[in-house]
Amino acid sequence: MIYHIPWIYTPLRTVMAIWHQLIKTEIPELSKGSVLIRERSRVEETLQAMRRAGVSSLQVISDFDRTLTRFTHNGKTVATTHNILDNRLLMNEDATRKMKELLNTYYPIEIDSNRSAEEKLPLMVEWWTKVHELLIQQKIRKDMLTQAVKESNAMLRDGYKEFFEHLAEHQVPLLIFSAGVGDILEEVIRQNQVFHSNVHIISNYMDFDQTGVLQAFKGPLIHTFNKREGALSHAAGLRELQGRPNVLLLGDSLGDLTMADGVSKPHNILTIGFLNDQVEERKELYANSFGIILVKDETMDVPNAILRYITSSRDNK
Ligand code: C5P
Ligand code: MG
Repeated sequence: MIYHIPWIYTPLRTVMAIWHQLIKTEIPELSKGSVLIRERSRVEETLQAMRRAGVSSLQVISDFDRTLTRFTHNGKTVATTHNILDNRLLMNEDATRKMKELLNTYYPIEIDSNRSAEEKLPLMVEWWTKVHELLIQQKIRKDMLTQAVKESNAMLRDGYKEFFEHLAEHQVPLLIFSAGVGDILEEVIRQNQVFHSNVHIISNYMDFDQTGVLQAFKGPLIHTFNKREGALSHAAGLRELQGRPNVLLLGDSLGDLTMADGVSKPHNILTIGFLNDQVEERKELYANSFGIILVKDETMDVPNAILRYITSSRDNK
């Protein structure tokens, strides 16, 4: 209605134009070819509100596999935490074959844009359960995990150092919420020297017996489409995350969007989605679901630029 009053319309439009320009110059990375934003003004308003509120109000919640880690490198798919276990030090050829078969069966279901999350849910439980059973049968040894990670092609996204260092420097908690394997995830970030004290992890952890052999997985299973339950039961209880109502959420699956469901009284939630695979089929869905989508972008350039923007408020210095 207000837009129809000419005397107010012009100044309002000017203010909006200056505002858009400001964000554009302050975060030039948002103009990268890989960036897709459906509701630009809403994203910009959220960014401004998060900057005004300052670092003490901020927390970052991120998925791990294919969000903090790359999807491909030199044309090859980069290992997820589960894939890292596919190493002769830990499992035999037969188990490798079975795990690959399971991946070929269930991964296409996980990323299928024609199936709902409800439909996928029981199938994901099936996948994770079968893989965990297989791993337990293999009697995985705890003391071999470090070497398996060293030998894998696991790789964090370009610019990961700045991402982790910046958050640590500003004492912003980073909650890594992963349906992968927690012990492996920890080893990956430890070997990359970014496991700082502000990092908290919710994941599937291995339970070893007294001789260091895998006997079970601890706690309730986390898969791609039940992160909401994990968020409500685990994340909500993390003291370090309390009183930080602004959330920067990073993920690569639609299921990752529920990772902030445990945040009490959220003010602003900005979601960034990495669209790595099945791009054309899923672009529409992702653009409608995430605030910002990064298409086949193997870098942390955009999250880093956003963090620099939010933390560059005068009040934060
Ligand atoms: O950290 P994140 O929650 O992304 O970890 C889950 C990912 O691991 C899924 O996206 C899935 O594709 C992958 N996965 C896998 N092998 C399995 C089970 C899951 O690579 N056996
Ligand atoms: Mg992921």
